[in-house]
Amino acid sequence: MTTVNSASSARVLNSVLAQRIMSAQEAAALIHSGDQIGMSGFTGSGYPKAVPIELARRIANENLCGQKFQVSVFTGASTGPELDGALAMAGGIHLRLPYQSDPETRKRINAGEMEYMDIHLSHVAQFVDYGFLGKMDVALIEATAVLEDGRVVPSSSIGNNKTWIERAERIILEVNSSQPEALEGMHDIYYGLQAPPNRQPIPLVHPDQRIGTPYLTVPAEKVAAVVLTNSCDRNSPFKPPDENSRRIAGHILEFLMWEVRKGRMPASLLPLQSGVGNIANAVLVGLEEGPFEGLTSYTEVIQDGMIRLLKSGKLLSASATAFSLSPEGQAEVNAEMALYHSRIVLRPQEISNHPEIIRRLGVIAMNGMIEADIYGNVNSTHVMGSYIQNGIGGSGDFARNGYLSIFMTPSTAQHGNISTIVPMVSHVDHTEHDVQVIVTEQGLADLRGLSPRQRAKLIIENCSCPDYKSALLEYFTRAERLSYGKHTPHLLSESLGWHNRYLRTGQMRPGAQGDE
Ligand code: COA
Repeated sequence: MTTVNSASSARVLNSVLAQRIMSAQEAAALIHSGDQIGMSGFTGSGYPKAVPIELARRIANENLCGQKFQVSVFTGASTGPELDGALAMAGGIHLRLPYQSDPETRKRINAGEMEYMDIHLSHVAQFVDYGFLGKMDVALIEATAVLEDGRVVPSSSIGNNKTWIERAERIILEVNSSQPEALEGMHDIYYGLQAPPNRQPIPLVHPDQRIGTPYLTVPAEKVAAVVLTNSCDRNSPFKPPDENSRRIAGHILEFLMWEVRKGRMPASLLPLQSGVGNIANAVLVGLEEGPFEGLTSYTEVIQDGMIRLLKSGKLLSASATAFSLSPEGQAEVNAEMALYHSRIVLRPQEISNHPEIIRRLGVIAMNGMIEADIYGNVNSTHVMGSYIQNGIGGSGDFARNGYLSIFMTPSTAQHGNISTIVPMVSHVDHTEHDVQVIVTEQGLADLRGLSPRQRAKLIIENCSCPDYKSALLEYFTRAERLSYGKHTPHLLSESLGWHNRYLRTGQMRPGAQGDE
């Protein structure tokens, strides 16, 4: 057993699990090539930080000796450089799912060196429960503390931890003393989900309601190792909102005010879901300056903008599966935990993203995208149709089931070299049937009640960048004239060729292969 500092070991109060404390290196030795590992971690928070690095070292060494040591890594969503980065660099990942955003992982996936399965975040736990994804060998979970009776205080994200713990053959816990002890009580783990045909309604009818327990139940007999760590979450900084994000936020606020005036939403709106990234964060910052009071949120991640809304009192409560804070946001939450503790609920992602709840609560879904086409289909994941950026994340869970589904992006990408409004998306994540509103800094297109041709005119007029508007209009009018069918006019050879303009600029993203 390794020597550990007393502050860390004081977090493991259960005497049986205290006996299993060992070094990260010893714990990594318990993982076998070919194992399928369910790891904690969601948008850079609550991921294991010590064992994956040791595992990567071991993999690199063994592979140097001619072995082919690889594992499959399932998580909640993206993690940090100590997990995705280290394992990808070692060439140690066979299959990765669901969402990732690590540069090295992205590079390997797009080079065809790593298998990646992009799936809806709400599907992951149930697919494992149903046996669709094979057997789970190891659960590698970061925790805040282990109580005397063996229950585990979760960390800064929940993700799929409940499922990994239930399904894995053996469990490795990383108890991280840098996670605030005050996280205890913020979590709500629901243990009532049964598989069909025995599934019952989930009894959650308010965004801030608690329907479970604050602790993870961990069978002691399955715990193979407990590792003590003291490292911070990834905590990436947010860019301050730029002019484009402010304008996008402004269009959304104006639209929401209109919806309230039309009586389609209460003055306090409906629970907000806000996607990942800087623009989503900017919309939250915009809401802080807007007229709405008494807001609630039912979302996936709690970003800085949401903390600011909670602090200002405009947002009453926030329900998510993870924090995704900048270092400043993290410091703010730590410093004023008493202010946030009872107003934040962290849930398993199968509940935070559950279609039944999202539909029942009437969530307003606001997500970023790579591109949209003139008919309202949305690509959230693939640059040039073949290069995966991150993954679909929870955008489909919320877009498909929300009260309103809003997608947003600046009207151009890559320094204006490419229009994000195109004739036909190069990859489809959200079909025209699941997209109600498209927003760019140019304006907003409300697609509800419109036919494809009406949608096309509105999207081109309101959302496209002036530099691309005439080309889009020209395509559409010619397609209206020459298309085989006039319902969704398309000239297939041209719509697919549209992205070639970008290829011709010679600004191909590193690792991307043009396939046209
Ligand atoms: N063509 C080419 N490149 C494009 C592009 C387009 N149409 N749109 C974006 N990009 C590039 C950007 O230029 C940038 O490239 P860089 O890294 O070389 O600078 C990169 O893609 C990321 O774009 P950026 O504008 O910085 O992204 P963002 O932080 O606003 O995130 C998504 C946008 C779509 C990547 C992000 O929202 C996402 O991953 N969404 C899917 C998952 C999701 O919605 N989750 C939330 C559910 S709760």
